[in-house]
Amino acid sequence: MAKILVAYFSKTGNTKKIAEIIYKTIEGTKTLKPINEIENDDISRFELLYVGFPVYSHSVPYIVETFLKNLPSGKKMALFSTHGSLTGSRLSREALEYATILAVNTKILGTFSCRGKVSLQALEILQKSPEHKAWSEMAVSANTHPDENDLEDAGAFAKWIQTLAITD
Ligand SMILES: Cc1cc2nc3c(=O)[nH]c(=O)nc-3n(C[C@H](O)[C@H](O)[C@H](O)COP(=O)(O)O)c2cc1C
Repeated sequence: MAKILVAYFSKTGNTKKIAEIIYKTIEGTKTLKPINEIENDDISRFELLYVGFPVYSHSVPYIVETFLKNLPSGKKMALFSTHGSLTGSRLSREALEYATILAVNTKILGTFSCRGKVSLQALEILQKSPEHKAWSEMAVSANTHPDENDLEDAGAFAKWIQTLAITD
């Protein structure tokens, strides 16, 4: 059975919740780790990677950007993200698309994303800027996420990716 790494960056816990469900759902020899605790040399021993991040400023947080750029080529992997924007919105898709480009040398089997509660601190800052006021008002509706349905979907995604990795 493949050795699997679930790697994530999470500041306020939303992405961590998704990472934990993925970790719980997959079968085999598995490891769950925050990206900042992973040595680059470590990665080569894994056959399948799930890598997750929160969307920051429509993009990928710097630490995740660096991690993705330095992945060994040919590695099978899946990407997941959480975001305050509405599900399926252009803003929520763009960061995942960018992450896919960053990991261009890997074999990406799929992506998953869901909404994640935006911290009160971030909302308060954004509300004060005319440019971000409307966004921050919309983002309040992410407050209940990730919810039970998101977690269920994340589990199904994890399973599906594992099936693809075996048959691929
Ligand atoms: C500094 C900062 C910037 C953010 N920028 C965006 C953004 O551009 N688009 C978006 O959809 N969500 C944005 N968010 C919301 C987060 O992506 C969302 O709350 C996410 O679930 C946080 O994940 P975490 O709890 O794992 O840290 C931002 C949050 C913070 C704190």
